[in-house]
Amino acid sequence: MLFILYKVKLLMTKILITGSQGQLAYELVQLANQHQVIALTHQQLDIINQTAVQQAFDIYQPNIVINTAAYTQVDLAEQNSEQAYAVNCTGAKNLAIACAETHIPLLHLSTDYVFNGTKNSPYQETDPVSPINTYGLTKWQGEEAIRTHCSQHIILRVSSVFGRHGQNFVKTILRLAQEKETLRIVADQIMCPTPAYAIAETLLKTINKPQWGTYHYCGSEPATWYDFANLIVQFAKEHTQLRVKQIEPITAADFPTAAKRPAYSVLDCSQFEKNFNIKRPHWQTGLKNVITALSTP
Ligand SMILES: NC(=O)c1ccc[n+]([C@@H]2O[C@H](COP(=O)([O-])OP(=O)(O)OC[C@H]3O[C@@H](n4cnc5c(N)ncnc54)[C@H](OP(=O)(O)O)[C@@H]3O)[C@@H](O)[C@H]2O)c1
Repeated sequence: MLFILYKVKLLMTKILITGSQGQLAYELVQLANQHQVIALTHQQLDIINQTAVQQAFDIYQPNIVINTAAYTQVDLAEQNSEQAYAVNCTGAKNLAIACAETHIPLLHLSTDYVFNGTKNSPYQETDPVSPINTYGLTKWQGEEAIRTHCSQHIILRVSSVFGRHGQNFVKTILRLAQEKETLRIVADQIMCPTPAYAIAETLLKTINKPQWGTYHYCGSEPATWYDFANLIVQFAKEHTQLRVKQIEPITAADFPTAAKRPAYSVLDCSQFEKNFNIKRPHWQTGLKNVITALSTP
């Protein structure tokens, strides 16, 4: 009887997803079909607007909120810091307050860019943060707002997300590989690419076993952007002809950007794996799937 009640409760889970046109939200909506999903675009719900957030809660009465809405343009955030703060911190705070008032959980995404990248072993959740760009700072401020206002939260710090939908490094390399014979890619920054669908799958699993807190989650095996680009091109060549003939390794100093990036950005995910009994995928498998999906008409 208890089992049936539990099942019914799960079936009735009404998930409100913000920022529903983003790359992660796209995967969430595809995967969450056993739940009732209310996926709201930026136009339908601007999380900066506290009244609009309250109205959305009144209208849809969700049981859980997954906040994928964010200001994610890392370089532009340097000049648009107020807008980045408004979305990444004030927006997260608005959702946290609304979730706390209605006693429902908030699942939220944050980033490896809360760290400065000077460590040379994987970052744990307990390591001190020290963001080196505005995006990372505003994401950390958003985390703090959530921890302050909503005790029932899972904040998942993820890194270097790629998927079929939206803008990401994989799509940029695929485009450049069609246009150019030589690509010059940064080879002195280490990160862990993470497939968007794996994050979506993982987040949905946490609904069944909520253990509130801040966690790290990324694809397994660190890589440089240069390694990542090489594999993207290698896998893409199995599907299509490309113009690119060579990929040159360069340093981050050779490729100046408005926002600094951490040199070493590997997340230790052992706490998350242990608490939720989740095995992380190797990002190469995810990459193969994404490139196959993008190459299939
Ligand atoms: N992408 C990565 O490599 C990466 C790495 C680490 C962490 N993350 C985190 O993972 C989460 C998901 O990232 P993603 O890659 O899926 O991002 P994304 O593709 O850029 O999607 C973000 C979505 O948020 C929407 N949005 C922006 N401002 C909003 C507002 N005020 N109200 C409501 N919606 C708003 C955007 O809509 P418009 O485009 O219409 O503005 C967009 O659809 C974010 O929290 C991000 O910080 C991402």
